[in-house]
Amino acid sequence: MSSNILITGAAGYIGGSLVADFLARNSPLIKKDQIHAAVRSDEQAEALSKLGIHVLQLDLTNEDAVVESVLRHNISIVVHTASSLDVSLALPLVTALGRQREVSGADTFFIHTSGLSAFYERTGWPSGRMSDAGPVFETERQFADSYPLRKTDVTVIEHAKEKGVTSFIVVPSTVYGKGSGAWNQLSVVLPIYVQGCISNKSVYKFPQNMTVSGVHISDMTALYTTIIEKVIQKETPPSGTEGYYFALAHDISWWELLDHLAKALHARGLVTESKTQVWPSDEAAAEALGIPVQYVQILWNSGDNLTTKNTYKLGWKPQWNKERFLQHLDDEIEAVQELGMAKSSLIASLFQSAKGPNAS
Ligand SMILES: NC(=O)c1ccc[n+]([C@@H]2O[C@H](COP(=O)([O-])OP(=O)(O)OC[C@H]3O[C@@H](n4cnc5c(N)ncnc54)[C@H](OP(=O)(O)O)[C@@H]3O)[C@@H](O)[C@H]2O)c1
Repeated sequence: MSSNILITGAAGYIGGSLVADFLARNSPLIKKDQIHAAVRSDEQAEALSKLGIHVLQLDLTNEDAVVESVLRHNISIVVHTASSLDVSLALPLVTALGRQREVSGADTFFIHTSGLSAFYERTGWPSGRMSDAGPVFETERQFADSYPLRKTDVTVIEHAKEKGVTSFIVVPSTVYGKGSGAWNQLSVVLPIYVQGCISNKSVYKFPQNMTVSGVHISDMTALYTTIIEKVIQKETPPSGTEGYYFALAHDISWWELLDHLAKALHARGLVTESKTQVWPSDEAAAEALGIPVQYVQILWNSGDNLTTKNTYKLGWKPQWNKERFLQHLDDEIEAVQELGMAKSSLIASLFQSAKGPNAS
């Protein structure tokens, strides 16, 4: 099978790191010439072109352009990291893979990236623990209308089925670690927090401890790669309504993390005290961290109710655990000091989404 691969959001943290990971692995299954990267701006295209891969500047909402590009470049696998939320970017890609399947007669595959907040009680997900091998699709479909991320997952799976495309939903937890991409190398949750602490010269914690799940960026890219390599070797793992993969490598206790962070930032003279203080309210946290208040709990508190069986059945073996993460917390600070804020429109899109769908 010719397995040309398109990665959307390839200038982003996850997509860019995935491209770099493919190149670094030098796998006989994924050769440089097969890698196609979709980006938005001229600067991003220039940065990624230096890697010697195919770079496409593509408006992902333009179905005709997406279909034409997928057919022209003989793409059979798409890894979509450009947006978990905006279904209008995912559907043209799935449609294009459906056309590619008709034209080539070979199977095509769509790997969608979702987010933990789809499974968070405050967004309308029912309470109780859920494994990625459980009835995730059925539950997402039942509660799809109350949260756009769930709606997007369900719509992607149903559209892929209709078009004869094999789909997977990969759900990153809190991804940390400096990315290896050619453009944005910073994640979202931890860099925003570290930056907020440095700006406020103090480390604040939420009044109640929260335990969430985390995954290092190298383990995250390894999960996508495992799925792709299985597909290429015609060992296609469970897909469609059964194809959820929760990237949960280990727990993160926010209070424990913030105690370590306070000491590490204090040792560098970046905060005035080595002890944490307590946010007086979500509003105060939102203002200090520079995000819409609706997203404070969603960003820092989603995902303590999930477990994974499907990723381990694939053979995914994360190399980072909680101890290694805490030992390398200084790396997170250094990355923020070196790079500032993420070169990403994700935060702007959160503000846009907080204003509602009709806001301009
Ligand atoms: N990082 C995490 O911890 C995490 C955890 C769970 C889920 N996720 C989800 O995973 C996805 C990727 O995350 P990330 O951290 O890699 O974010 P990121 O660094 O912001 O990367 C997203 C990339 O997609 C591009 N993009 C956004 N909207 C687009 C559009 N309309 N058309 C074309 N390209 C578009 C962005 O382009 P610009 O560079 O031009 O903005 C950016 O390069 C996001 O949907 C995020 O919600 C991330």
